[in-house]
Amino acid sequence: MERHSDEGLSVPIRYQLSEPAFRCCIMSNMLRNFIQKELCPNSEWNLSDYMRSALEHQIARLPKAVVSEDETRYPTTPAGMRAFLEVFFTRHYFQVQDSLLDYMVSKEFMDSLAIGKLQIIDVGCGPAVASLAITDMLVHVLEYFRYAGGLPGNRVLNITYTLNDTSGICLGTGQHMLTDYFHIHRGAMRMRTICTQEPFPSNVNQLRRIRNNCGAYNIAVFSYIAVPASEEEGFGSFINGMRSTEELCGTNGRILLLQDKFHTALVQKISRAIGVSSRKANLTQVIYPRRNTNESYTYSYYQYLYAPRNRVEAENYIGKKIVMFR
Ligand SMILES: C[S@@+](CC[C@H](N)C(=O)[O-])C[C@H]1O[C@@H](n2cnc3c(N)ncnc32)[C@H](O)[C@@H]1O
Repeated sequence: MERHSDEGLSVPIRYQLSEPAFRCCIMSNMLRNFIQKELCPNSEWNLSDYMRSALEHQIARLPKAVVSEDETRYPTTPAGMRAFLEVFFTRHYFQVQDSLLDYMVSKEFMDSLAIGKLQIIDVGCGPAVASLAITDMLVHVLEYFRYAGGLPGNRVLNITYTLNDTSGICLGTGQHMLTDYFHIHRGAMRMRTICTQEPFPSNVNQLRRIRNNCGAYNIAVFSYIAVPASEEEGFGSFINGMRSTEELCGTNGRILLLQDKFHTALVQKISRAIGVSSRKANLTQVIYPRRNTNESYTYSYYQYLYAPRNRVEAENYIGKKIVMFR
């Protein structure tokens, strides 16, 4: 009997999946292993050589001065920008990579890539932190396929970054770092950036126009923007802005929202308002810029990652049913 139950447990998963689904599963696992080996060896996130060069180059060109904590978090001056890059950049960057890894190795994401263009919107982008994190992971995805036999559609990938921030220096530095990154890494990707300095969510009409001209967003990131946007514009407006952004995302798209562990009440309020549960995650990373050799730290943070179109369609369906029953 025991032998039988052992056999039952060891039935390979492929008997439960169709052949193409099984191949996708294997491909996703191999791709995930490749990216983890490159970017997160021994479960510790670190920067690729391309990204480290772009970051170090940017820090070196900015003046060093003592700035307030607020200026470090929300930089508006060159010295504040430098402080942000030294204190917060990699912390948020790795949280984006850690949160999006599973999605970026999934079949859904590969299907989006096969079309040959990708739209990323980075709300409250700072120096394009999330955009850079996604780009670097994308480079590794494409590198994997170059060795392992080509992505479906195998052509140049055109990426449009919509960068939104109220701070001019953030938008300028973000564009600069993306350009630097693309100079260092000359791969099969072409990029363009569209910047908007109008505060979110007052800029939703502008984001809609960009979507109409360039195509639906594949990934929309709200990384550490919930606090300032709801303080400035009101919590209700922030949530309405997020819901409007959901409608601008494509079928396979994702929304990612990140917030630190110190804002539990806000996180719970967001969950109730958008009807999506948050997840508390931990990650260990190398500290940059490096002070001593191999200094690392573990951070906890809150993350929401969801497919907005599923939600929008489910809500429309329920809405129609309610209308029919009235
Ligand atoms: C803590 S930083 C986060 C930067 C980046 N997203 C990250 O994860 O590192 C918050 C950014 O939001 C910007 N910001 C504040 N209020 C905003 C608003 N209403 N709309 C757009 N950006 C805003 C600030 O200028 C700042 O660069």
